[in-house]
Amino acid sequence: MDFKLTEEHEMIRQAARDFANNELKPGVIERDEKQEFPKEQIKKLGELGFMGMMASPEYGGGGMDTVSYVLAMEELSKIDASASVVVSVNNSLVCWGLDTYGTEEQKKKYLTQLTTGEKIGAFCLSEPEAGSDATSQKTTAIDHGDHYVINGTKNWITNGGSADIYLVIAHTDKDKKHRGINAFILEKGMEGFEVGPKEQKMGIRGSDTHSLTFNDVKVPKENRIGEDGFGFKFAMKTLSGGRIGIAAQALGIAAGAYEMAKDYSKIRKAFGTEIKNHQAIAFKLADMHTSIEAARHMVMKAAWDKDNGENYDLSGAMAKLYASKVAMDVTVEAVQVHGGNGYVKEYHVERLMRDAKITQIYEGTSEIQKIVISRSILAD
Ligand code: CAA
Repeated sequence: MDFKLTEEHEMIRQAARDFANNELKPGVIERDEKQEFPKEQIKKLGELGFMGMMASPEYGGGGMDTVSYVLAMEELSKIDASASVVVSVNNSLVCWGLDTYGTEEQKKKYLTQLTTGEKIGAFCLSEPEAGSDATSQKTTAIDHGDHYVINGTKNWITNGGSADIYLVIAHTDKDKKHRGINAFILEKGMEGFEVGPKEQKMGIRGSDTHSLTFNDVKVPKENRIGEDGFGFKFAMKTLSGGRIGIAAQALGIAAGAYEMAKDYSKIRKAFGTEIKNHQAIAFKLADMHTSIEAARHMVMKAAWDKDNGENYDLSGAMAKLYASKVAMDVTVEAVQVHGGNGYVKEYHVERLMRDAKITQIYEGTSEIQKIVISRSILAD
């Protein structure tokens, strides 16, 4: 068993680390405060090839493996989880979904713009009454021969306001339950497509989350993804890969907070010595480091499964479940290590603690991961 990264992996990790420190860190506190989307930074990430890392090179993608992607996600998330969720949704939900299941025309028209960061993508599954229970979609897409007419509302859509291209899941035939669901490519500006107000969030405040409303939106038939009735499986398969990216995001948030706590423990003095010399702090750091390392192994295993044609539904769900818990636990402890300074914005860890919570909610709550895991281990 080889745990060593290749030279190429190391280079990608270093490039993401440099970008995070040089381009994301300045201004991250202000963007969080003002709920400001990292527009310039995302544009640069696109130019550097981070927006379509795994997509096919013929459509502008990097043709990289999932291991490269999670390495980049971890590094970006150590500094700015708001930027990294934009990267994650664009890469693993939108680009991967289109690259894997889209037609040649769809890829030429849409994927080429998404992989370069010229345009940003959003994945629209959740609804006011269909978050975890994804089959209960109320949005409808009625077949009118050469086009569909879409009506409904989507909620909590990451990149909702800043995206240009939206993958929308809707019911085409409610009687067929999940087999009557389809996925469609919509563009901002289509008549009847409205973006609702921005949500005021606890964490990942730099990313923009909106509800979307569709009032008789006419979508050409060629914008349906896959065979008729493929939409639910499309969403599930895409989310399975997406969960590996969010697990890497959770890992990065935890690792970022841990590194800050460790550095702080070496400079802060109490009772006549640096606080790292107190066992109360040293043991916290030991626990944090151990759980992060365990989460990293799980994230890498899930990425490896995906790259090697193994089933990654289970390993991805386990990685997300575990890494998101580690992100919560470690960020809370990192604030504690910082004491009063941990509670103020300039020390960054309070933001990471707020950001960590979303990793237990989006792309399937922790409870959903437990459904996926328990069904898988109890299947035989
Ligand atoms: N791959 C392929 N097919 C899958 C699959 C997978 N991973 N999981 C399920 N399916 C298929 C099943 O095989 C079944 O198909 P057949 O009947 O044809 O065999 C069909 O889908 C229905 O499966 P289930 O009976 O298991 O469906 P269910 O209703 O019990 O739901 C669930 C399963 C796992 C709970 C699912 O509803 C789920 O994942 N819910 C959470 C949804 C979610 O993650 N929402 C997050 C929103 S997106 C987001 O957050 C993005 C963002 O902006 C950051």
